[in-house]
Amino acid sequence: MSEQPKAPGPYAVAVIGGDGIGPEVVAEALKVVEAAGVKLETTSYDLGADRYLRTGEVLPDAVLDELRGADAILLGAVGPAIGSTAVPSGVLERGLLLRMRFELDLYVNLRPFTASPGAIAAGADFAVVRENTEGPYAGEGGLLRRGTPHEVATQGSVNTRFGVERCVRFAFELAERRGGRRDVTLVHKTNVLTYSGDLWKRTFEEVAAGHPSVTTGYQHVDAACIFLVERAAEYDVVVTDNLFGDILTDLAGAVAGGIGLAASANLNPARTGPSLFEPVHGAAHDIAGTGRANPLAAIRSAAMMLEHLGETPAADRVTRAVLAEQTEMSGSNRPWSTASVGDAVAGRL
Ligand code: IPM
Ligand code: MN
Repeated sequence: MSEQPKAPGPYAVAVIGGDGIGPEVVAEALKVVEAAGVKLETTSYDLGADRYLRTGEVLPDAVLDELRGADAILLGAVGPAIGSTAVPSGVLERGLLLRMRFELDLYVNLRPFTASPGAIAAGADFAVVRENTEGPYAGEGGLLRRGTPHEVATQGSVNTRFGVERCVRFAFELAERRGGRRDVTLVHKTNVLTYSGDLWKRTFEEVAAGHPSVTTGYQHVDAACIFLVERAAEYDVVVTDNLFGDILTDLAGAVAGGIGLAASANLNPARTGPSLFEPVHGAAHDIAGTGRANPLAAIRSAAMMLEHLGETPAADRVTRAVLAEQTEMSGSNRPWSTASVGDAVAGRL
């Protein structure tokens, strides 16, 4: 007797809608996943600025433990309205986003960019592999004699051989499976950051030696900013440290057609726990509730989640639908809303 093909899922997905436009774009992402035929069992978690303002809690340990048991985490955006002083700057960033990245060992932040026709970077299609648990984000440093005329602030960049190597390996393996030009560019500032640069460069060269079919390049981060604006179509995979990656991916989003299109996956490729998927953009309180938030970044992030869950055909269909919709939206003045874009993507599947 022939076996029925297994119905996909259900996957246990922890959903953190968050603040501002976060819940709106996540709703469209879930709509599209459902339309793609992948079954999810979602659990919603109330985390973000609203929760903090109500209860003073950012990420209770019990909630973090529940998240560890999920198959994946889908996050919209967290953050207070700009100008609000009720949530001190950094509380949610470090206490929620970075804590999840560190505690769940989400050591790769993968950010793909496919430029819209007409964007500054038109024709570009590349991915940035950002190291996601080390660098200046690790929290090394401190203040001495704070508030005195002789105060000292240090903020170190932590770079371990283990952390750099696993990130660089991921970049090379990605270049091999992406079906692009099979090229990896290391971006750093080795001429000035001699210690961390040395570790990154040597590790990069050693890993490259094990991937002879992948071509390689190196750029200083300042030069990479020019390249991103002028010749982004030449990139395939870019690998870089945590802070350079943060800055470069905002720039990449802007030149590729807008941050509303920029997706990301915070990956634990070793699969010792769930990975987290979120658009690069923030909570955009100024347009919350107006239907003007573009859900394409969140939907593409959900496609990355499907890929990570092993639902590759569904992931590919959703990504293709997102890119087709992105192309159509960039070439027309047709009015749209958050929900109509989600419907349109679902309709293309
Ligand atoms: C990002 C964000 C975060 C970062 C902030 C909110 C901590 O800018 O995901 O790019 O710096 O990584
Ligand atoms: Mn950022």
